[in-house]
Amino acid sequence: MSPNTDDEIDVVTAASSKIDTVDFENLLFGNIFSDHMLSCDFRNGKWEKPEIKPYEPFLLDPSAKVFHYGQAIFEGMKAYKHEDDNVWLFRPDQNFDRFNKSAVRLAMPEITEKIFIDGLKRLLDIERNWIKKGKGNTLYIRPFMIAIGSGVVAAPSTQYRFMVILSPAKAYYSGEVKVIIADHYSRAANGGIGAAKAAGNYSAQFYPTKLANEKGFQQIIWTDDATHTKLEEAGTMNVFFRINDTLLTAPTSERILDGVTRKSLIDIAKSLGIDVDVRPVLVSELVEAAQNGSLKEVFGAGTAAVVNPIVGFSYDDHYHELPKMSNSYASLLKEKLTDIQHGLSADEFGWMVKV
Ligand code: COI
Repeated sequence: MSPNTDDEIDVVTAASSKIDTVDFENLLFGNIFSDHMLSCDFRNGKWEKPEIKPYEPFLLDPSAKVFHYGQAIFEGMKAYKHEDDNVWLFRPDQNFDRFNKSAVRLAMPEITEKIFIDGLKRLLDIERNWIKKGKGNTLYIRPFMIAIGSGVVAAPSTQYRFMVILSPAKAYYSGEVKVIIADHYSRAANGGIGAAKAAGNYSAQFYPTKLANEKGFQQIIWTDDATHTKLEEAGTMNVFFRINDTLLTAPTSERILDGVTRKSLIDIAKSLGIDVDVRPVLVSELVEAAQNGSLKEVFGAGTAAVVNPIVGFSYDDHYHELPKMSNSYASLLKEKLTDIQHGLSADEFGWMVKV
């Protein structure tokens, strides 16, 4: 290991790389991590000097609050290597802003741009070899913050750890995605933490999703908790519907994550002249549209999955199969978005940031 200390960040590089052991063609999402990670602790009311060091486990006190009260938030981002070997990030400012909004909601300290953005860029610079060229190859970035202060009093911690880990990634889902529309369980409620990227929002989905899996469905379309009549998110993604040729998606709210892919797809769709309607979408209108043939597509959108077509949905024990579209909005929008991300078409929105 070679230490390299400057004013901004301490860097200790790994003695050897595990990159040669990785089969980049056959990656299971989020299973393999690069050689280094960024770590920065918050103590005594301030962020300490961040460090980049070899990826490794670390010790925490068993009473650390993250284990007991789930004080934990995260982000999902990706880095892309363009044909000229430069590495690019997609709208990192959006993730940075959302991370801090999540931090405020979970009573955690906000992180600085210097640590989040500059630290990430420095880490990516060290891990350039882990980012492969070519469409579909990405390096998934997982920034997260956990409460590391000890003591089981149910109150916010005074000590936190911010970390960034990196995982080479291709597709998130393999195979078809069929969904059940939630009529009992909820992902989020008004006044809750649904709009934050809080760890607890995801663990709360595991049990209902497990029940859906047992019935042969991969994911759940979440509905509003109060009435279960409005369609809100699909699994870990935002959700879009195409009825006739209009693209519909719910407005963001206290219950819905302000997805970066979601908002980017809305902008791309509008730029292509697609009629986009951001408004509450009712379960009843989805069922009616499926029955009268005007429902053409349903797809999820998120950083990890990008755009994921849904082949059918179940509601009230009736399964509705979606038509197979040759010119689907899902594939058109995915193509446009990933072309921008991979540097294959002009970045007319000014979204890409060079590392
Ligand atoms: C992402 O799309 O980046 C997410 O955060 C979803 C995650 C559960 C993989």
